[in-house]
Amino acid sequence: MVWKVAFISAAAAATVASVNAVTTNYTSSTDPTQITLPDIPQVTSTDPAQQCVYYNSPYSINPSEWPTVWDIATSNGMNTSAEFTALYNSIDWTKVPNFPPRNLTAAGGLDMTGYDGVNDPACWWSSSTCKTPKVEGINPDLYACPEPDVWGLTFDDGPNCSHNAFYDFLEQEKQKATMFYIGSNVVNWPYGALRGVKDGHHIAGHTWSHKMMTTLTNQEVLAELYYTQKAIKHVTGVTPKHWRPALGDLDDRVRWIATQLNLTAIIWNLDTFDWAANVQAGVTTETVDNLYQDFINMGTNGTFANSGNIVLSHEINNQTMDFFMKHYPAIKKAYSHVLDVATCMNITTPYVETTVTFPTFEQSVGTSSSSSANPVSSGTGASGTSGSSSVATTSSGNSITLNGPLFIAALFGLFVLV
Ligand SMILES: *[C@@H]1O[C@H](CO)[C@@H](O)[C@H](O)[C@H]1NC(C)=O
Ligand SMILES: *[C@@H]1O[C@H](CO)[C@@H](O)[C@H](O)[C@H]1NC(C)=O
Ligand SMILES: *[C@@H]1O[C@H](CO)[C@@H](O)[C@H](O)[C@H]1NC(C)=O
Ligand SMILES: *[C@@H]1O[C@H](CO)[C@@H](O)[C@H](O)[C@H]1NC(C)=O
Ligand SMILES: *[C@@H]1O[C@H](CO)[C@@H](O)[C@H](O)[C@H]1NC(C)=O
Ligand SMILES: *[C@@H]1O[C@H](CO)[C@@H](O)[C@H](O)[C@H]1NC(C)=O
Ligand SMILES: *[C@@H]1O[C@H](CO)[C@@H](O)[C@H](O)[C@H]1NC(C)=O
Ligand SMILES: *[C@@H]1O[C@H](CO)[C@@H](O)[C@H](O)[C@H]1NC(C)=O
Ligand SMILES: [Zn+2]
Repeated sequence: MVWKVAFISAAAAATVASVNAVTTNYTSSTDPTQITLPDIPQVTSTDPAQQCVYYNSPYSINPSEWPTVWDIATSNGMNTSAEFTALYNSIDWTKVPNFPPRNLTAAGGLDMTGYDGVNDPACWWSSSTCKTPKVEGINPDLYACPEPDVWGLTFDDGPNCSHNAFYDFLEQEKQKATMFYIGSNVVNWPYGALRGVKDGHHIAGHTWSHKMMTTLTNQEVLAELYYTQKAIKHVTGVTPKHWRPALGDLDDRVRWIATQLNLTAIIWNLDTFDWAANVQAGVTTETVDNLYQDFINMGTNGTFANSGNIVLSHEINNQTMDFFMKHYPAIKKAYSHVLDVATCMNITTPYVETTVTFPTFEQSVGTSSSSSANPVSSGTGASGTSGSSSVATTSSGNSITLNGPLFIAALFGLFVLV
């Protein structure tokens, strides 16, 4: 069975919703344009055991001031902290779309019982892959690089230990990616997060504890987003304008709350299922290799002749990183450009801090076929324009073939992320 998803022709929506929330009431000791890493084995070694020895750093947190790592971000009394209360009260909750939090099934999947999947009133991605909000004043999702023959490179679930070989590889290849960092991982592995910013990757948030966002209350959704922003800022000095929900689970209620924090979601239109190999029943190394091969074929057989993709892949572990490294030479051959999402979307200032800038698509590809421009520039030369973070891609006539059974299994099955 093959599941066809027609590309929705989304008009470029320049919605900048009215945002009143206090979003950056926290500071950082890091200048993101001047990052240096200490010469310790955790930062330099490619031996997994050495990299994963826990370390203290200037970024170590006082646990009493933060949510419990890997627990919902309202934990540890954070929903009653002065800063969170001030944030919560700065939002006009009478305007939040009134869709109830969803439930999980006993197996850990989303319970869609009773949801009107035909009309999809909440624009619930998990139900329909809906990406263009049905409620007004909400930032629409980005989900495909607009230029032809572009592979939008994204990795979820970092940072972590044992990723030095992967970051070294990307650095050698002068390859930038969009990295979606989990807040709990950022505070546990700060040098991993600093490496990502130092190397010029495009950093975005991936929630504090990686829960299914539509199952959370308004307060919990806000806390998951806010404390992830705060963690990334605390360690790296940048405040991302973009985020990605775990498993793509978002609807207009979740999007509205993210919009209050000026955040725009980046989803995808191709999924490698790399995390599921040898973890989920029926998904083998060969399954994922075949998906990569299909996506590589799409680069030469006309599928992306008019517009590009955004591909979901993961940092999670050695196996997921190795899938990408193995297929990278073929990806580069099959596509004109392999780019991070900020660059492919001309988002030159993807952070609140405008000292860090990225090239436009044209600047990036003008001189070479890979993104070799140094995206980090400091100080005076930085452009003062605000990021076009709510530009939706326009695409027409494209039809992407996804692996239906896998997709459905992932939505309803048991999720095991390491
Ligand atoms: C904070 O969260 C706790 C536990 O979920 C809940 O009992 C309490 O009512 C919440 N407090 C506020 C002010 O929302
Ligand atoms: C930040 O939040 C604290 C409460 O935790 C408050 O006292 C302070 O005034 C706030 N600062 C700004 C700049 O809003
Ligand atoms: C979730 O479960 C609770 C308790 O059974 C129920 O009251 C609520 O209606 C359910 N929510 C949805 C969206 O089905
Ligand atoms: C995965 O492990 C193998 C064997 O230890 C190693 O050669 C390879 O570099 C590792 N890959 C990554 C991305 O760390
Ligand atoms: C391109 O390749 C993909 C993956 O192999 C395939 O599903 C699709 O049908 C192909 N499209 C065309 C136009 O040949
Ligand atoms: C990353 O590291 C933590 C330990 O800090 C671990 O619990 C977690 O599962 C690891 N992997 C991912 C994908 O987050
Ligand atoms: C990026 O900029 C180029 C050149 O100005 C333009 O053609 C393209 O449409 C822009 N892409 C987006 C997503 O704004
Ligand atoms: C939200 O983003 C817009 C456009 O970049 C900016 O003008 C505004 O100041 C931001 N608001 C907050 C609260 O950060
Ligand atoms: Zn994830």
